[in-house]
Amino acid sequence: MCGIVGYVGHRQALDVVMGGLRRLEYRGYDSTGVGLVDGDRIAWAKKAGKLANLDAVLEGNALPASTTGIGHTRWATHGAPTDANAHPHLDAADRVAVVHNGIIENFMVLRAELEAAGYEFLSETDTEVVVHLLHRELQQQDDLSEAVRAVCRRLEGAFTLVFADALNPGVVVGARRNSPLVVGRGEGENFLGSDVAAFIDYTAEAIELGQDQVVTITADAIDVTDFHGNPAETTAYTVDWDVTAAEKGGYEWFMTKEIEEQPKAVADTLLGRLDQDGHLQLDEMRLTDDELREIDKIIVIACGTASYAGLVAKYAIEHWTRIPCEVELASEFRYRDPIIDRSTLVVAISQSGETMDTLMAIRYARQQRARVLSICNTNGSTIPRESDAVIYTHAGPEVAVASTKGFLSQVVACYLLGLYLAQAKGVKYGDEISSIIDELHQVPAGIQRMIDEGDQVRKLAAELVDRRSFLFLGRHVGFPVALEGALKLKELAYVHAEGFAAGELKHGPIALVEKGLPMFVVVPPRARDQLQEKILSNIQEVRARGAYTIVLVEDGDDSVVPFADVVIRLPKVPTLLQPLVATVPLQIFACELAELLGHDVDQPRNLAKSVTVE
Ligand code: AGP
Repeated sequence: MCGIVGYVGHRQALDVVMGGLRRLEYRGYDSTGVGLVDGDRIAWAKKAGKLANLDAVLEGNALPASTTGIGHTRWATHGAPTDANAHPHLDAADRVAVVHNGIIENFMVLRAELEAAGYEFLSETDTEVVVHLLHRELQQQDDLSEAVRAVCRRLEGAFTLVFADALNPGVVVGARRNSPLVVGRGEGENFLGSDVAAFIDYTAEAIELGQDQVVTITADAIDVTDFHGNPAETTAYTVDWDVTAAEKGGYEWFMTKEIEEQPKAVADTLLGRLDQDGHLQLDEMRLTDDELREIDKIIVIACGTASYAGLVAKYAIEHWTRIPCEVELASEFRYRDPIIDRSTLVVAISQSGETMDTLMAIRYARQQRARVLSICNTNGSTIPRESDAVIYTHAGPEVAVASTKGFLSQVVACYLLGLYLAQAKGVKYGDEISSIIDELHQVPAGIQRMIDEGDQVRKLAAELVDRRSFLFLGRHVGFPVALEGALKLKELAYVHAEGFAAGELKHGPIALVEKGLPMFVVVPPRARDQLQEKILSNIQEVRARGAYTIVLVEDGDDSVVPFADVVIRLPKVPTLLQPLVATVPLQIFACELAELLGHDVDQPRNLAKSVTVE
């Protein structure tokens, strides 16, 4: 959500900033803008809509050459996505410019104060107060960094702010609180970005900023302080993926590419997790076995697809560890007064590591003294940084808004956690753990097969392209798969889609079933006799009422064939691992349907990749 780029160096800042904004497009946005230092003023351009609209403005009205610039992709919160509300925002004389991600919660009070002092507002945004506050501060002193610190001390809420000042040429200043900002260190040039994708074309050397810090970059220096000017500690790291990993590599959509990367994502997430004695080892566990043995309750918190990974994990974690495990939407967690204490392990799952609902939930959990472990795909992001322990998924950058490889690798990481807890508590023997790990190692081949057989699902999408409603049924771990299948279809194809626990059908949803309604049904492996038989009855119930049944069932199980309009075969895997293969055809179906309907597969309407507001 909102992409930010800042640059000072020897290149044309406009090229660097526009290139960075293109790389940040995946975060989701609805207007864009750039600002460049040009003599004693800031030259700027901004436009509602996609970057192509800004390109058109710049073609008609070229900006001057400059080596200092800032840029922004905005995802509207306060005020519609219009030209006026787009960033940067400037003071009346076009001396200073600011771009912002987040929400200034006390902006109403500040706006009233500034209006009373004679400042005129041109937009409906919360951001504009910041630039006027800075303008007023710069009347008292010339030092941009000092003025930014003074402004930050007055702000409440979440913000990443990046400023340029025509009277401080060759300097860009950034600040962050509860919102991401990273620094890119170059040779004779430095960068700021919402994430490393903003500058990965130029450098892999990054610096992670902490909470409430202000960073000043020039071409040759990077200076970081807290909001009071005290020098601050930072962490430098080298980005371990290159630019090609964030490119489409010949695929039409990032989502298609990311679906196909899933066998590798799962394999990489499993890589290097056993020590030479065959014991599970998790790099950044940071919690001792003694601490883990004290855990008597687990609460998984996450949003959207990540929460469905948590729902899958609950079955495995409880089964393997015998520790009660709840799964809760992060946005609901802290408002219900949950019962947690030092012996509760809160597991936060987040691909981006920046989801504000999840971040706020872990902060609450830590205040209540719970231990927090995060499962995250983004190195250096806020959620793992604020957790007691981390398990990184190694899925590589996920660019498409719809999560695919993120989901499968989260499920795998949750399984590693479950097994690690079982190992620490001694409730599973070493050989039992190794045999489950062996089974997990077989899964990438099964996922690859589902990808190779994707044409069956693509043809099905073409056949059903005019349907406006779909239902998904599952039992046990198949239930979260049904929820995920429905979510993918909603977000990509904009059609009505709902997932149900098959047992709930008769308690209401069966009323929706009518002739021709497409229903996907995930059939549990036969090894779980009762489950398989029960869902067989559910399929017959909906078929009898005219549903068009699309049945996902393991190889060799022909019992469903008489009641299925379409059979999608799944490789035989243990019940708990079935979501890792069964989700894949549902992803492919949603992706194909969206494409056939002419939708933007990678950036569905109204959605953002990184949801950094509550
Ligand atoms: C999935 O396709 C979504 N776009 C969305 O539900 C996502 O999973 C959710 O916003 C959580 O994101 P996170 O994993 O980055 O925290």
